[in-house]
Amino acid sequence: MPGTLTIWTDHELGTISPNLYGNFAEHLGRCVYGGLWVGERSTIPNEGGLRTAAVEALRALHLPVLRWPGGCFADDYHWEWGVGPQRRPRRNLWWGGPESNEFGTDEFLELCRAVGCAPYISVNVGSGTVEEAVNWMEYCNSSQASHYANQRRAHGHPDPYGVRYWGIGNENWGCGGNMTPEQYAYECRKYACFMSKLGRDVEGGVYLIAVGHDDLRWNHEVLRHLEGALGTLSALSIHMYRTGHPAQGPPATSATDTPEHFYRLLGEVVDMEDKVRKTADLLDFYSTPGHRLDLVVDEWGTWYGDTDEGLGQPGPLKDALFAAAALHMCQRYCGAVSMTNMAQTANVLQALLLTRGSDLVLTPTYHAYEMMKNHQGARLLASRATSARLADDKGREYDALSVSASRSADGGALTLSVANLSLDQDCPTEVRLSGLEAVRGATARVLTSAGIADVNDFDAGERVKPRETPAQVALPSFRHTFPARSLTVLEIAL
Ligand code: AHR
Repeated sequence: MPGTLTIWTDHELGTISPNLYGNFAEHLGRCVYGGLWVGERSTIPNEGGLRTAAVEALRALHLPVLRWPGGCFADDYHWEWGVGPQRRPRRNLWWGGPESNEFGTDEFLELCRAVGCAPYISVNVGSGTVEEAVNWMEYCNSSQASHYANQRRAHGHPDPYGVRYWGIGNENWGCGGNMTPEQYAYECRKYACFMSKLGRDVEGGVYLIAVGHDDLRWNHEVLRHLEGALGTLSALSIHMYRTGHPAQGPPATSATDTPEHFYRLLGEVVDMEDKVRKTADLLDFYSTPGHRLDLVVDEWGTWYGDTDEGLGQPGPLKDALFAAAALHMCQRYCGAVSMTNMAQTANVLQALLLTRGSDLVLTPTYHAYEMMKNHQGARLLASRATSARLADDKGREYDALSVSASRSADGGALTLSVANLSLDQDCPTEVRLSGLEAVRGATARVLTSAGIADVNDFDAGERVKPRETPAQVALPSFRHTFPARSLTVLEIAL
């Protein structure tokens, strides 16, 4: 079925927070050690121990924000063991194996500086203390002649890092202490009370993120028990991992390429939208005219049945299409969603980068993020698409074309991203740009492959990558064919 797509270029719906394109790196599997961090003595090219190729790839992505150190790891992490010349080795409680603490706060903040992204640190609520958390903030952000700021200086970092984003625990309903909502709210009140006091050390104040849940009852209970203290918090976070597993039979894997699985995986976005909308409504209810609570999705992505011990999975094309559709959905809620952090940056779950020895490959998901990066900080435009309706075996329906359009903050460019989620039908589409008098030119790139389970790997190389494609952009409308199972991004100069 042919499609239609109208973009009202003079109808702006809100600003897309750059942080929607954030990521997450945990001390898990080979994300940090062997992935982002190789150590200064490694023969693998590195800058102060950080893998050069990873830093370059993340910089090219315009990665806006990186969350660390966990995940479950965060609620058993004692930051003081990972700073200074004497690192104290430990066991990694949640993910097994040793933790050398070679990569600690200064290494993480140096990684963020090299990449050009903002750091987001989750503090230990499960087995830590409020004192440990505020000392960590002092170490990172204080310019005073105080103990922990002096310690940072003694470790070779004279200037405060200005870390703005702080998470108060992680999944405290589970691996972060198995707490009830009441217990967590009690802890969170204390942490937020003291941590918010250190907000003055950071330009714009600190941004404190409380732990929410996929389960809306938890969110409601936590917010209810936080009443009176909500002014110290900026956001509530939820996690959304999706598998697209069938109701019966063996779990889907990265290699599963059946239409049933693909449409179910993309159908999950319908369910994710429902979670986002309901949580955003709840946050609205608890917001006041002077203080709005944002929604942060600080872990999300695919999690199949073929992860290795370190939660590694190969990262097929279908992941990139799932990412594009989910990012489009988050952009529609840009008034509510201030940040998302896909899990995880290297070698773990829906990774951006895969490494083997000194080799590094970019996954199709990396390419989707890179292609869509100009949406960051741009103004969301009203748009409407019609195309074939797709449905999964759970009865969830959605359009074949998943679309988002934005205009750059300076008004000079329009970014249009379109995922055609049909597995086998190209979609010739009439694209109408309403409200424009002239365009100066356009480029288009498309990401697709013969199969949705196609991956980039070390032996076959990078097969799934964006290619330039002709686009005859004209006013008031033009025709463009969006190929089956593809992501297309048009950049239009105004
Ligand atoms: O990302 C892997 C794990 O998934 C994280 O440690 C935890 O927060 C979540 O359950």
